[in-house]
Amino acid sequence: MTQVSDIHSIPSFNLLRQNDELREQLLDVLSGVIDKGLFILGENVKALEIEIAEYCDAKFGIGCASGSDALYLALLACGVGPGDEVITTPFTFFATAGSIERTGARPVFVDIEPDTLNIDPLKIEEKITAHTKAIMPVHLYGCPVDMDTIVEISNNHGLKVIEDAAQALGAKYKNKKIAGIGDAGCISFFPTKNLGAFGDGGMVVTNDPEIAEKVRMLRVHGAEKKYFHSALGCNSRLDELQAAVLRIKLNYLDTWAERRRAIAKLYKEFLSQLQKIKNYLKLPEEPDYAYHVYHQYTIQTEKRNDLQMFLKERRIGSVIYYPQPMHLQKVFAPLGYNQGDFPYAEHATNQVLSLPMFPELTDEEVRQVVDIVSEFLR
Ligand SMILES: Cc1ncc(COP(=O)(O)O)c(C=O)c1O
Repeated sequence: MTQVSDIHSIPSFNLLRQNDELREQLLDVLSGVIDKGLFILGENVKALEIEIAEYCDAKFGIGCASGSDALYLALLACGVGPGDEVITTPFTFFATAGSIERTGARPVFVDIEPDTLNIDPLKIEEKITAHTKAIMPVHLYGCPVDMDTIVEISNNHGLKVIEDAAQALGAKYKNKKIAGIGDAGCISFFPTKNLGAFGDGGMVVTNDPEIAEKVRMLRVHGAEKKYFHSALGCNSRLDELQAAVLRIKLNYLDTWAERRRAIAKLYKEFLSQLQKIKNYLKLPEEPDYAYHVYHQYTIQTEKRNDLQMFLKERRIGSVIYYPQPMHLQKVFAPLGYNQGDFPYAEHATNQVLSLPMFPELTDEEVRQVVDIVSEFLR
């Protein structure tokens, strides 16, 4: 049995190792920006917009202040506003549904698939009404949504598809990078994301020149040219300092994705033994169509809360993403949803637990986490 004193603490996420490795390069580009003295929409933002668009096989990239704003601006650019409905998942981070509500539109929820925990595309069509304007799928935990079905539904009903790709940069659906598949894809550069800045940041990618132009305008208070405003936008730009950091890190994104996949493989190898022995334990699944980038390695178990406590006592980090589905959030009470409306999403909120996952996690640390999970579940 592993003794508590034998274990060094393993956080659920840790940036310090990555920062240490890249320190010289990062300091170098940061001092370059300081020397130039241009901090808003400079050459690094421009270059990063091109690089991320290329990375996602999209034509345009428009940097903005956060992933949340990327969603909001993409919705506005797709013409979503008061009186409209946008179909999305109830099992996601708040920003997905929050951005829809911010436009004045109504989020309409559809339950998730129990295996991928992503929106169930087969349940979307029954929720489409004359007011539906868009579908917002979320590639949760880095696992791509079944996009062919969603694109087909949207084509049949004349809807826009706005991908919430905040957690999944680098993931592929049938060999196509996510974010570049729908009408617009929204990326978050929050520090813990697959490609993380030293603060907030986000980007919209799109192949549609009109959407690109609108987002570009909306992020500077709807100004077509300086001080001439044709729409009500906001101040939502990606900082030059952040763009400089992100351009360095982008060089490593694919290697990091591979490492995340290797860690997931290790977790699976060890934990599937345990699954056979005893107890309900569900491991993340990678659909045949997917290149999953494991932003999170999220297991499901009935004993989730006790397991989390057990891990905590042994200094192993773990996080519940997410403990409350969107349709039961207080702020969305006026939407009129009730407990029991989306059973799979509600079930997931009671069972999910994300184990430590970041590219610099060592095999030995994964083994230690698995040992403790095994000790608890046996
Ligand atoms: C699924 C999802 N959507 C949107 C966001 C919002 O991104 P940001 O934190 O950059 O605003 C996040 C970030 O946590 C997310 O996980």
